[in-house]
Amino acid sequence: MITPNTIEQIKNRLDIIDVVGDFVKLKKRGSNYLGNCPFHNEKTPSFTVSPAKELYKCFGCGKSGNTITFVMEHEKLSYVDALRWLAARYNIEIEETEVSDKQKQQMQVADSLYVINKFAGTFFDDQLFNTEDGRAIALSYLKERGFREEIIKKFQIGYNPQQRDTLAKALLANQFNRELLPRTGLVTVRNETELVDNYRGRIIFPIHNNSGKIIGFGARVIGKADKAPKYINTPENELYVKSKLLYGSYFARMAIDKLDECLLVEGYTDVVSLHQAGVENVVASGGTSLTVDQLRLVKKYTNNLTIIYDGDSAGVKAALRGLDMALEEGLNVKLVLIPDNEDPDSYVNKVGTEAFQQFIKENKKDFIIFQLEVMLKDVGNDLNQKNILVNQIAETISRINKAEDFTKQQAYIKQCAALLKIDEGGLITLVNKIKRDKVAKEEKKQAPNDAIDQLNAEQFQTIETDNVGNITSNEEKHERNVLRILLEFGLKEYLETKTTIADYIFEELQGFPFENPELEKLLGLYKKLYEEGKEPDTKTFLYYEDNSIRELAISITLFPYELSANWDSLYEGKTITNADNSNQDATMSINYYKLKKLKKMFEENQSEMEKAPLEEQLQLIRIHKDLKDIEREITKRLGTVILK
Ligand code: UTP
Ligand code: MN
Repeated sequence: MITPNTIEQIKNRLDIIDVVGDFVKLKKRGSNYLGNCPFHNEKTPSFTVSPAKELYKCFGCGKSGNTITFVMEHEKLSYVDALRWLAARYNIEIEETEVSDKQKQQMQVADSLYVINKFAGTFFDDQLFNTEDGRAIALSYLKERGFREEIIKKFQIGYNPQQRDTLAKALLANQFNRELLPRTGLVTVRNETELVDNYRGRIIFPIHNNSGKIIGFGARVIGKADKAPKYINTPENELYVKSKLLYGSYFARMAIDKLDECLLVEGYTDVVSLHQAGVENVVASGGTSLTVDQLRLVKKYTNNLTIIYDGDSAGVKAALRGLDMALEEGLNVKLVLIPDNEDPDSYVNKVGTEAFQQFIKENKKDFIIFQLEVMLKDVGNDLNQKNILVNQIAETISRINKAEDFTKQQAYIKQCAALLKIDEGGLITLVNKIKRDKVAKEEKKQAPNDAIDQLNAEQFQTIETDNVGNITSNEEKHERNVLRILLEFGLKEYLETKTTIADYIFEELQGFPFENPELEKLLGLYKKLYEEGKEPDTKTFLYYEDNSIRELAISITLFPYELSANWDSLYEGKTITNADNSNQDATMSINYYKLKKLKKMFEENQSEMEKAPLEEQLQLIRIHKDLKDIEREITKRLGTVILK
């Protein structure tokens, strides 16, 4: 491990203009520099470098980062290797430290697995292209299915020979750790000591992580799978965690980013075939239901997820199971079913790229409509069942309630009525009745503590609509904003408490934890460094070793949600006591954040009340009142800040 000292030294010497300038011809434009983006093809320059912020961003392809990430991306290096590269460039001598034994062991295992996988990948490649059996049995099969050499090479598809231990022997001959080998899933132990190949006679699809390293394999039988399973996959190990990966993500990242859409298919061959057809924004789930981690992986690049499955596959139901989560993650989910027992691979081969893309475009279906169709199939001709379904759909539609979504609701009603083969007017009546019932229930429920509610509802209204407009739209915004304040101003003094802003924020956050796990992680990290006296600030994290933390810090600082712009207008004409606004910003951020959280707590409490038996109601009402007290405190506090 490179010592923090060395890293500090490297960072101090970095000059982003100097480093980027090695690769990009930069021209000065105001306080920034401009050049042609090295990450995508362009004729007019949109690659901007800010020496003040030590960051770059391309307004064409969206790539952004700091000096170190630039070297990583451009030279295809890991973080540590980028540091070494920079150290060499600036003639800085590297000091290395020891890491804990356990850490070391884990890192060593992971490293060794990478090395073994890399070796195996090359071995499989070689077997496919350069052996008689490989060419006759495997390559010919792949070609028969329409895969061309170029795409086979791009995805590093290979072949494991039929003999019992060709790979095992090669691995042992290359001195790989015998104990570790079975962990890769490439070989298994027979008769206690003997190592034999696990993927005998199979086509091998390597699975890459986002930096292109092989973390596992999918091994397919050649031809029909009668006796053995069609695919054997790598067992879970230090590198291969199925719930966190999507096959093809390494090759799809750029296209997903560029097209602002991610296509999701089921299988390895679907991904490869679509790539070959020029559709590159595609990843595969492996046919299981989607996990939150996989959805987040998608969300890093786009909000638009289009799922393309074959109509009859069990995968459709599996995918549906993950969809509520997708909606919660804020993804726009569309679905396309491939007809006639085809899957994306066979279908694109059958109809060609253009017709395929046309088909996707024309058959993209909204989640609700899709669900209705699936349920309709199950219902069949059973009138009773159909009745239940009609009510279910009406209930779903009635949830689309906002004024601006009125047209959307109308469209849903029209489509659903047609699909259900019922009268549109009837469905409208039903939806409206459900809505009315809900409102009535709501009113009844609110009757007991009307007065307090009324009072506070008004306070809330004033804050939410009059003063801050659209601030309240999204909880995460507030969490990000609190973090931004912490990173930018944490070490400054908070005049009122005579502590630092960081101390003030930590104090205020008690009882109001962050919800987003990544933001929470960054917060925890800041706190740890702060308490260790390390005086963390924005820069600390812009250069942080952990990828996700670094990217988060960059996005928080580079693209702050424009909350403070709103505040500025609030301050207009009012005296501001400290010159740099940091105190007001801190107060506003934390209090609006808390208001947002409170609102959620109210809602949760409210729905508890709906369900709870009478004897628990009293307790819940008490909680309700307590929350109101806190809320009143906060609104008062915000009021004084605003009026100051
Ligand atoms: P499919 O059975 O649809 O296979 O499984 P496929 O991808 O279309 O492959 P070809 O076209 O028949 O060659 C979809 C995915 O489900 C996982 C694999 O990831 C596969 O790509 N799967 C399927 C397994 O992991 N094991 C199996 O035995 C079958
Ligand atoms: Mn297939």
